[in-house]
Amino acid sequence: MGKIILTGDRPTGRLHVGHYVGSLRNRVLLQNSGKFDKLFFMIADAQALTDNFDHPEKVRENILQVALDYMSCGIDPAKSHMFIQSVVSELTELTFYYMNLVTLARLERNPTVKAEIQLRGFNHSIPMGFLTYPVSQTADITAFMADTVPVGEDQLPMLEQAREIVRRFNELYGETLVEPTALLPDNAACLRLPGTDGKAKMSKSLGNCIYLADEPEDIRTKVMGMFTDPNHLQVSDPGQTEGNPVFMYLDAFCSDEYFAKYLPDYANLDELKAHYRRGGLGDVKVKKFLNNVLQETLEPIRARRKELEKDPGYVMDVLRQGTEVAQAAAAETLAKVKHAMKIDYFA
Ligand code: TRP
Repeated sequence: MGKIILTGDRPTGRLHVGHYVGSLRNRVLLQNSGKFDKLFFMIADAQALTDNFDHPEKVRENILQVALDYMSCGIDPAKSHMFIQSVVSELTELTFYYMNLVTLARLERNPTVKAEIQLRGFNHSIPMGFLTYPVSQTADITAFMADTVPVGEDQLPMLEQAREIVRRFNELYGETLVEPTALLPDNAACLRLPGTDGKAKMSKSLGNCIYLADEPEDIRTKVMGMFTDPNHLQVSDPGQTEGNPVFMYLDAFCSDEYFAKYLPDYANLDELKAHYRRGGLGDVKVKKFLNNVLQETLEPIRARRKELEKDPGYVMDVLRQGTEVAQAAAAETLAKVKHAMKIDYFA
Protein backbone atom coordinates (compact mmCIF):
# COMPACT_ATOMS: atom_id res chain seq x y z
CA MET A 1 0.00 0.00 0.00
CA GLY A 2 2.74 2.48 0.84
CA LYS A 3 2.65 5.67 2.85
CA ILE A 4 -0.18 8.01 2.01
CA ILE A 5 -0.98 11.47 3.32
CA LEU A 6 -4.29 13.22 3.31
CA THR A 7 -5.15 16.48 4.96
CA GLY A 8 -7.14 19.56 4.17
CA ASP A 9 -8.53 22.96 5.00
CA ARG A 10 -11.91 24.60 4.93
CA PRO A 11 -12.05 27.32 2.30
CA THR A 12 -13.58 30.02 4.46
CA GLY A 13 -10.78 32.54 4.22
CA ARG A 14 -7.17 33.04 3.31
CA LEU A 15 -4.68 30.97 5.26
CA HIS A 16 -2.63 32.66 7.96
CA VAL A 17 0.66 32.11 9.74
CA GLY A 18 -1.07 29.83 12.26
CA HIS A 19 -1.94 27.46 9.41
CA TYR A 20 1.62 27.82 8.16
CA VAL A 21 3.48 26.73 11.28
CA GLY A 22 0.67 24.43 12.40
CA SER A 23 0.57 22.37 9.24
CA LEU A 24 1.52 23.90 5.88
CA ARG A 25 5.25 24.15 6.53
CA ASN A 26 5.25 20.56 7.69
CA ARG A 27 3.32 19.39 4.64
CA VAL A 28 5.90 20.82 2.31
CA LEU A 29 8.69 19.10 4.26
CA LEU A 30 6.80 15.82 4.12
CA GLN A 31 6.16 16.27 0.42
CA ASN A 32 9.82 16.87 -0.25
CA SER A 33 11.07 14.14 2.10
CA GLY A 34 10.36 11.49 -0.52
CA LYS A 35 9.01 9.24 2.23
CA PHE A 36 5.46 9.26 0.96
CA ASP A 37 4.07 7.54 -2.09
CA LYS A 38 1.04 9.76 -2.44
CA LEU A 39 0.00 13.06 -0.93
CA PHE A 40 -3.51 14.50 -1.13
CA PHE A 41 -4.36 18.03 -0.03
CA MET A 42 -8.05 18.66 0.03
CA ILE A 43 -9.95 21.91 -0.09
CA ALA A 44 -12.84 20.95 2.15
CA ASP A 45 -15.65 22.98 0.58
CA ALA A 46 -18.39 20.49 1.52
CA GLN A 47 -17.23 20.63 5.12
CA ALA A 48 -17.05 24.43 4.97
CA LEU A 49 -20.70 24.44 3.91
CA THR A 50 -21.70 22.63 7.11
CA ASP A 51 -21.43 25.95 8.90
CA ASN A 52 -21.59 28.28 5.89
CA PHE A 53 -24.49 26.75 3.98
CA ASP A 54 -26.07 30.19 3.87
CA HIS A 55 -22.92 31.72 2.30
CA PRO A 56 -22.00 29.49 -0.61
CA GLU A 57 -20.35 32.40 -2.43
CA LYS A 58 -17.86 32.79 0.41
CA VAL A 59 -16.86 29.14 0.12
CA ARG A 60 -16.62 29.34 -3.66
CA GLU A 61 -14.42 32.43 -3.65
CA ASN A 62 -12.00 30.94 -1.19
CA ILE A 63 -11.28 27.78 -3.17
CA LEU A 64 -8.84 29.66 -5.37
CA GLN A 65 -7.42 31.54 -2.37
CA VAL A 66 -6.59 28.35 -0.50
CA ALA A 67 -5.11 26.78 -3.63
CA LEU A 68 -2.93 29.88 -4.05
CA ASP A 69 -1.85 29.64 -0.43
CA TYR A 70 -0.99 25.96 -0.83
CA MET A 71 1.07 26.44 -3.94
CA SER A 72 2.81 29.58 -2.75
CA CYS A 73 3.96 27.71 0.38
CA GLY A 74 5.56 25.07 -1.81
CA ILE A 75 2.95 22.39 -2.35
CA ASP A 76 3.95 21.20 -5.76
CA PRO A 77 1.42 19.77 -8.23
CA ALA A 78 4.16 17.53 -9.63
CA LYS A 79 4.44 15.81 -6.24
CA SER A 80 1.06 16.25 -4.55
CA HIS A 81 -2.57 16.17 -5.54
CA MET A 82 -4.65 19.19 -4.57
CA PHE A 83 -8.37 18.70 -5.00
CA ILE A 84 -11.86 19.97 -4.26
CA GLN A 85 -13.85 17.84 -1.81
CA SER A 86 -17.38 18.26 -3.16
CA VAL A 87 -16.42 17.16 -6.66
CA VAL A 88 -15.42 13.76 -5.30
CA SER A 89 -18.96 12.56 -4.61
CA GLU A 90 -17.64 9.16 -3.46
CA LEU A 91 -16.78 10.94 -0.21
CA THR A 92 -20.43 11.70 0.43
CA GLU A 93 -21.39 8.13 -0.33
CA LEU A 94 -18.82 6.76 2.10
CA THR A 95 -20.08 9.19 4.74
CA PHE A 96 -23.58 7.74 4.43
CA TYR A 97 -22.39 4.22 5.15
CA TYR A 98 -20.09 5.28 7.99
CA MET A 99 -22.99 7.05 9.70
CA ASN A 100 -24.31 3.63 10.71
CA LEU A 101 -21.17 3.09 12.74
CA VAL A 102 -21.43 6.14 15.01
CA THR A 103 -23.97 7.10 17.64
CA LEU A 104 -25.45 10.53 18.17
CA ALA A 105 -24.09 10.50 21.73
CA ARG A 106 -20.58 9.85 20.45
CA LEU A 107 -20.76 12.76 18.01
CA GLU A 108 -22.08 15.06 20.70
CA ARG A 109 -19.12 14.16 22.90
CA ASN A 110 -16.54 15.29 20.34
CA PRO A 111 -14.76 18.21 22.07
CA THR A 112 -13.97 20.06 18.83
CA VAL A 113 -17.58 19.83 17.70
CA LYS A 114 -18.74 20.94 21.15
CA ALA A 115 -16.50 24.00 21.08
CA GLU A 116 -17.58 24.90 17.56
CA ILE A 117 -21.27 24.55 18.41
CA GLN A 118 -20.71 27.09 21.18
CA LEU A 119 -18.65 29.38 19.00
CA ARG A 120 -21.28 29.40 16.27
CA GLY A 121 -24.19 29.73 18.70
CA PHE A 122 -25.96 26.65 17.34
CA ASN A 123 -27.09 25.60 20.83
CA HIS A 124 -30.07 23.31 20.43
CA SER A 125 -30.60 23.80 16.73
CA ILE A 126 -27.49 22.11 15.42
CA PRO A 127 -27.80 21.33 11.72
CA MET A 128 -27.35 17.59 11.19
CA GLY A 129 -24.72 18.21 8.55
CA PHE A 130 -22.61 20.09 11.06
CA LEU A 131 -22.89 17.45 13.75
CA THR A 132 -21.87 14.71 11.35
CA TYR A 133 -18.86 16.41 9.81
CA PRO A 134 -16.46 14.20 11.78
CA VAL A 135 -17.99 11.25 9.93
CA SER A 136 -17.44 12.96 6.61
CA GLN A 137 -13.89 13.68 7.68
CA THR A 138 -13.43 9.95 8.25
CA ALA A 139 -14.60 9.41 4.69
CA ASP A 140 -12.05 12.00 3.47
CA ILE A 141 -9.20 10.18 5.16
CA THR A 142 -10.16 6.59 4.46
CA ALA A 143 -11.10 7.19 0.82
CA PHE A 144 -7.40 7.58 0.11
CA MET A 145 -6.29 4.84 2.49
CA ALA A 146 -4.26 7.58 4.17
CA ASP A 147 -2.15 6.39 7.09
CA THR A 148 -0.76 9.83 7.95
CA VAL A 149 -2.83 12.94 8.55
CA PRO A 150 -0.80 16.10 9.29
CA VAL A 151 -3.08 18.39 11.27
CA GLY A 152 -3.21 20.89 14.10
CA GLU A 153 -3.97 19.87 17.64
CA ASP A 154 -7.64 20.83 17.38
CA GLN A 155 -8.14 18.00 14.89
CA LEU A 156 -7.08 15.20 17.25
CA PRO A 157 -10.67 14.36 18.28
CA MET A 158 -11.51 13.99 14.57
CA LEU A 159 -8.70 11.52 14.12
CA GLU A 160 -9.81 9.56 17.18
CA GLN A 161 -13.30 9.42 15.72
CA ALA A 162 -11.92 8.25 12.39
CA ARG A 163 -9.90 5.50 14.04
CA GLU A 164 -12.98 4.27 15.88
CA ILE A 165 -15.06 4.15 12.70
CA VAL A 166 -12.28 2.33 10.84
CA ARG A 167 -11.96 -0.27 13.59
CA ARG A 168 -15.70 -0.77 13.69
CA PHE A 169 -15.90 -1.10 9.91
CA ASN A 170 -13.08 -3.61 9.73
CA GLU A 171 -14.54 -5.58 12.62
CA LEU A 172 -17.99 -5.77 11.03
CA TYR A 173 -17.15 -6.16 7.36
CA GLY A 174 -13.61 -7.49 7.32
CA GLU A 175 -10.22 -5.79 7.11
CA THR A 176 -10.76 -3.07 4.48
CA LEU A 177 -9.83 0.37 5.73
CA VAL A 178 -6.56 1.82 7.04
CA GLU A 179 -6.40 3.25 10.55
CA PRO A 180 -4.93 6.74 10.26
CA THR A 181 -2.48 8.47 12.59
CA ALA A 182 -2.33 12.22 13.20
CA LEU A 183 0.96 13.93 12.64
CA LEU A 184 1.49 17.05 14.75
CA PRO A 185 4.35 19.51 14.29
CA ASP A 186 7.15 18.52 16.69
CA ASN A 187 7.71 22.10 17.83
CA ALA A 188 5.13 22.66 20.59
CA ALA A 189 4.96 26.39 19.83
CA CYS A 190 3.55 25.54 16.42
CA LEU A 191 0.59 23.65 17.79
CA ARG A 192 -1.40 26.68 18.69
CA LEU A 193 -0.15 30.03 17.58
CA PRO A 194 -2.15 32.72 19.38
CA GLY A 195 -3.66 35.75 17.67
CA THR A 196 -1.67 38.98 17.56
CA ASP A 197 -3.96 40.19 20.37
CA GLY A 198 -2.94 37.28 22.61
CA LYS A 199 -6.29 35.50 22.22
CA ALA A 200 -5.91 31.72 22.01
CA LYS A 201 -6.92 31.41 18.38
CA MET A 202 -6.32 33.37 15.23
CA SER A 203 -9.60 34.08 13.60
CA LYS A 204 -10.72 36.33 10.83
CA SER A 205 -13.67 37.62 12.83
CA LEU A 206 -11.37 38.71 15.67
CA GLY A 207 -9.08 40.56 13.24
CA ASN A 208 -6.00 39.09 14.93
CA CYS A 209 -4.42 37.17 12.04
CA ILE A 210 -1.30 37.67 9.98
CA TYR A 211 -2.14 36.28 6.55
CA LEU A 212 0.29 34.60 4.20
CA ALA A 213 -0.77 37.11 1.57
CA ASP A 214 -0.24 40.20 3.79
CA GLU A 215 1.90 43.03 2.41
CA PRO A 216 5.14 43.89 4.26
CA GLU A 217 3.63 47.06 5.71
CA ASP A 218 0.60 45.16 7.10
CA ILE A 219 2.88 42.59 8.71
CA ARG A 220 4.97 45.31 10.30
CA THR A 221 1.92 47.16 11.65
CA LYS A 222 0.45 43.97 13.06
CA VAL A 223 3.70 42.90 14.70
CA MET A 224 4.40 46.29 16.21
CA GLY A 225 0.86 46.32 17.63
CA MET A 226 1.12 42.86 19.13
CA PHE A 227 0.03 42.09 22.64
CA THR A 228 2.95 41.30 24.98
CA ASP A 229 3.37 40.96 28.74
CA PRO A 230 0.97 43.60 30.12
CA ASN A 231 3.11 44.00 33.25
CA HIS A 232 6.21 44.82 31.28
CA LEU A 233 5.63 48.56 31.41
CA GLN A 234 9.17 49.95 31.46
CA VAL A 235 12.16 48.61 29.61
CA SER A 236 13.85 47.99 32.96
CA ASP A 237 10.96 45.84 34.26
CA PRO A 238 11.43 42.07 34.24
CA GLY A 239 9.14 40.53 31.66
CA GLN A 240 7.35 37.23 31.10
CA THR A 241 8.20 35.24 28.01
CA GLU A 242 5.85 32.38 28.71
CA GLY A 243 2.42 33.00 27.23
CA ASN A 244 3.78 36.19 25.65
CA PRO A 245 2.60 36.14 22.02
CA VAL A 246 5.72 37.83 20.68
CA PHE A 247 7.92 35.11 22.15
CA MET A 248 5.46 32.40 21.14
CA TYR A 249 5.79 33.59 17.55
CA LEU A 250 9.57 33.61 17.88
CA ASP A 251 9.42 30.07 19.25
CA ALA A 252 7.51 29.04 16.14
CA PHE A 253 9.41 30.99 13.48
CA CYS A 254 12.88 31.85 14.62
CA SER A 255 16.14 29.96 14.22
CA ASP A 256 19.68 30.88 15.31
CA GLU A 257 20.64 32.18 11.86
CA TYR A 258 18.21 35.04 12.27
CA PHE A 259 20.14 36.25 15.31
CA ALA A 260 23.40 36.41 13.42
CA LYS A 261 21.64 38.40 10.75
CA TYR A 262 19.33 40.75 12.65
CA LEU A 263 20.24 40.71 16.34
CA PRO A 264 23.89 39.66 16.71
CA ASP A 265 24.03 40.69 20.39
CA TYR A 266 22.32 37.41 21.15
CA ALA A 267 23.32 33.93 20.01
CA ASN A 268 19.88 32.44 20.21
CA LEU A 269 16.33 32.75 21.49
CA ASP A 270 17.23 31.47 24.97
CA GLU A 271 19.60 34.38 25.47
CA LEU A 272 17.01 36.87 24.28
CA LYS A 273 14.40 35.39 26.60
CA ALA A 274 16.78 35.46 29.54
CA HIS A 275 17.42 39.17 29.00
CA TYR A 276 13.69 39.90 28.75
CA ARG A 277 13.03 38.03 31.99
CA ARG A 278 15.86 39.87 33.77
CA GLY A 279 14.58 43.22 32.63
CA GLY A 280 16.29 45.81 30.47
CA LEU A 281 14.98 44.61 27.14
CA GLY A 282 12.20 46.59 25.51
CA ASP A 283 9.25 45.18 23.60
CA VAL A 284 9.98 47.33 20.56
CA LYS A 285 13.37 45.70 20.06
CA VAL A 286 11.90 42.21 20.27
CA LYS A 287 9.03 43.12 17.96
CA LYS A 288 11.40 44.59 15.39
CA PHE A 289 13.33 41.35 15.43
CA LEU A 290 10.15 39.31 15.05
CA ASN A 291 9.12 41.55 12.18
CA ASN A 292 12.42 40.83 10.41
CA VAL A 293 11.98 37.11 10.92
CA LEU A 294 8.41 37.14 9.62
CA GLN A 295 9.27 39.36 6.67
CA GLU A 296 12.02 37.01 5.61
CA THR A 297 9.78 33.96 5.99
CA LEU A 298 6.77 35.41 4.20
CA GLU A 299 8.52 37.32 1.41
CA PRO A 300 9.12 34.34 -0.92
CA ILE A 301 5.63 32.99 -0.23
CA ARG A 302 4.05 36.32 -1.15
CA ALA A 303 6.21 36.60 -4.27
CA ARG A 304 5.17 33.16 -5.50
CA ARG A 305 1.55 33.99 -4.72
CA LYS A 306 1.73 37.15 -6.83
CA GLU A 307 3.09 35.15 -9.76
CA LEU A 308 0.38 32.50 -9.44
CA GLU A 309 -2.36 35.12 -9.07
CA LYS A 310 -1.62 36.26 -12.60
CA ASP A 311 -2.80 32.92 -13.93
CA PRO A 312 -5.84 31.68 -12.01
CA GLY A 313 -6.69 29.43 -14.97
CA TYR A 314 -3.49 27.49 -14.34
CA VAL A 315 -4.31 27.10 -10.65
CA MET A 316 -7.81 25.85 -11.48
CA ASP A 317 -6.27 23.39 -13.94
CA VAL A 318 -4.03 22.07 -11.19
CA LEU A 319 -7.11 21.59 -9.02
CA ARG A 320 -9.01 19.91 -11.83
CA GLN A 321 -6.21 17.44 -12.47
CA GLY A 322 -5.70 16.78 -8.77
CA THR A 323 -9.42 16.23 -8.38
CA GLU A 324 -9.44 13.67 -11.19
CA VAL A 325 -6.71 11.66 -9.48
CA ALA A 326 -8.48 11.96 -6.12
CA GLN A 327 -11.78 10.87 -7.64
CA ALA A 328 -10.22 7.76 -9.14
CA ALA A 329 -8.59 6.83 -5.82
CA ALA A 330 -11.83 7.37 -3.87
CA ALA A 331 -13.80 5.31 -6.40
CA GLU A 332 -11.44 2.39 -5.85
CA THR A 333 -11.96 2.56 -2.10
CA LEU A 334 -15.71 2.90 -2.46
CA ALA A 335 -15.78 -0.26 -4.56
CA LYS A 336 -13.87 -2.10 -1.84
CA VAL A 337 -16.21 -0.75 0.82
CA LYS A 338 -19.29 -1.81 -1.10
CA HIS A 339 -17.81 -5.23 -1.68
CA ALA A 340 -17.06 -5.62 2.02
CA MET A 341 -20.59 -4.49 2.87
CA LYS A 342 -22.04 -6.94 0.35
CA ILE A 343 -23.75 -4.24 -1.67
CA ASP A 344 -21.74 -4.69 -4.87
CA TYR A 345 -24.68 -6.23 -6.71
CA PHE A 346 -23.60 -5.82 -10.31
CA ALA A 347 -19.87 -6.17 -9.80
N1 TRP B 1 -11.49 19.91 9.60
C1 TRP B 1 -10.34 20.38 8.93
C2 TRP B 1 -10.19 21.87 9.26
O1 TRP B 1 -11.02 22.42 9.92
C3 TRP B 1 -10.41 20.21 7.42
C4 TRP B 1 -10.56 18.80 7.00
C5 TRP B 1 -11.63 18.24 6.35
C6 TRP B 1 -9.62 17.75 7.20
N2 TRP B 1 -11.42 16.95 6.12
C7 TRP B 1 -10.21 16.59 6.61
C8 TRP B 1 -8.36 17.66 7.81
C9 TRP B 1 -9.57 15.36 6.65
C10 TRP B 1 -7.73 16.41 7.84
C11 TRP B 1 -8.33 15.28 7.28
O2 TRP B 1 -9.27 22.49 8.85
